[in-house]
Amino acid sequence: MIPDEKVREVADRTSIVEVVSDYLPLRRAGSNYLGLCPFHSEKTPSFTVNPAKEIFHCFGCGVGGNAFSFVMRIEGLSFPESVKLLARKTGVEIEERQLTPAERKSQDEYARLLRINELAASYYRSVLLNSTEGEAAREYLVARSVGDDVSEAYGLGFAPDRWDGLAKHLKNNSVEIDDALKLGILRKSENGLRDLFRNRLIFPIKDTRGQVIAFAGRVLDAALPKYINSPESPLYHKSSVLFGLEMALQSIRTSNSAIIVEGYFDHLALYRAGVHNVVATCGTALTSTHSSLLKRHAEKVYTLFDSDSAGKKATIRSMELFLEQRLPVYVISLPAKDDPDSFLATHSRDEFIGLLDKSRPAFEYFVRSVLAETTPDSVDSKVRIIDEIVPRFRKISDSIERDLYEKEICRLLGITVHAFRKRMSGGKIVPRDIQNFNNHAPTDSIQDTLLALLLNYHEARAEIMRSSLETLFNDDYLELANFLVANLSDSDSSGNLSHLTEQITKPELKALFSRIMVSDAYLADIDWRSVLSECTKSHEKKALASIKEIAGRLAVLEPDSIEYKQLLEQADALRTRKSKL
Ligand code: CTP
Ligand code: MN
Repeated sequence: MIPDEKVREVADRTSIVEVVSDYLPLRRAGSNYLGLCPFHSEKTPSFTVNPAKEIFHCFGCGVGGNAFSFVMRIEGLSFPESVKLLARKTGVEIEERQLTPAERKSQDEYARLLRINELAASYYRSVLLNSTEGEAAREYLVARSVGDDVSEAYGLGFAPDRWDGLAKHLKNNSVEIDDALKLGILRKSENGLRDLFRNRLIFPIKDTRGQVIAFAGRVLDAALPKYINSPESPLYHKSSVLFGLEMALQSIRTSNSAIIVEGYFDHLALYRAGVHNVVATCGTALTSTHSSLLKRHAEKVYTLFDSDSAGKKATIRSMELFLEQRLPVYVISLPAKDDPDSFLATHSRDEFIGLLDKSRPAFEYFVRSVLAETTPDSVDSKVRIIDEIVPRFRKISDSIERDLYEKEICRLLGITVHAFRKRMSGGKIVPRDIQNFNNHAPTDSIQDTLLALLLNYHEARAEIMRSSLETLFNDDYLELANFLVANLSDSDSSGNLSHLTEQITKPELKALFSRIMVSDAYLADIDWRSVLSECTKSHEKKALASIKEIAGRLAVLEPDSIEYKQLLEQADALRTRKSKL
């Protein structure tokens, strides 16, 4: 325990500019200092330090705080650890408050338990590396393409196929047997002490300081259980530990994101492929302790679970936890039947990065998976879908995100926002809430008019067909226009076209077709030339307007972000379209 006065004394003697300057160059800019943010990647400095207020803030990623928060984040430390670090730098001596006898006892115990795990880890490691008993494990690792460097990085080991290999080793090192029993790596039996791990490949589980707090052991064959883990102990609480976090911290910090996987071997496969910002749960579902731990280090997380139904469930469950934490979460989808390990066995790192680039927000993934299970084709089914979505939707704390998803959900379901909100507050949805929506695809009056022209005027049809359809239509409109052009003949007049609807299979296109067909009466007796030229002009204007809007959005984005790339592509496409007009 560090007394409060000491914390204040350290704070008083600390200069945030000096602290930050130990990690990155700062230059003066008015009353502030500026530098390149160490917590996200950027090319123009938006990391701002105010010496008068002893505060930093990054306008790029939104991270901010005082000197302690800076050190906590950049070193991955707890608050007391960061106070101690700055105390050393500023020459403040911290005498920790006298520990109570109970505290001292538990601190001593903690140190003794850590020593035992270290002894065990080096025993398992030396069996793997040097002993004949480790031969099978060495072959196993070769078969799974785990090289010496990777084995070394994880400190992998092997527990020999003996009852008391570790027991003997610990006794020889005069370990208190009661302590080893507390860790669960030895157990008492009628015949004396027994090792917990026998004939298993050993993964040491470490805390963020790299201290071994537990082990996981995998069989070398198909025997069950595949894994056993150290039980809970004073060192190890599995619901708050993320496997691999200490190896990942550096990379999590530079990429500002973390990838979560389920398996030890998945972690290993990504590490080997050079993807290092990865953590795994230790044979448990993700907990809120896990998610808040990640929030301390990353601004964004990706889930990367198996593509089976268990993996799907885990994805949605973890989405809920991250939504509650306001930590943006994306889903990396693997091809069916793959897990990260098998995917990387047959694909390159670049192909993996491709999947990462294609990751979707978890909430979108969730809505889609609900829709894949229940088709929204009746009032009942829509209500069921909404009721499934609503509890999760409530967990979205960001209001912009809520708005977006509300619209998206309503669009996908063909219901009104009003109806969705009504259901959110416990109301009933009636058919009226849904009626208008079979033709709910976004409408565009210019394209409506162009389609109507295409259907009603032979000459206009010819004219429209001379320009490329892509410059006039997009999405459903384009698809329908292509269909019409292919299927209309010169002798067709608007009076005899209804049969076309039978050949249109997509419901959205059918709806569009019928909507135009029933609502084009106002086109009768018009000068189609002037209407067509108006349409093309206002199309052009619209394209211009959205290029402007995109430029505005580009200005505030990171040039190497995915969004930036996507927007840039959109702008280019628009420009090409415009130039064809
Ligand atoms: N797990 C566990 N106990 C088991 C099975 C699995 O604790 N009996 C946990 C482990 O953390 C394991 C994860 O669940 O890493 C994922 O399980 P699985 O995919 O079966 O294991 P992998 O580590 O991926 O092993 P492998 O690639 O060898 O199948
Ligand atoms: Mn697996």
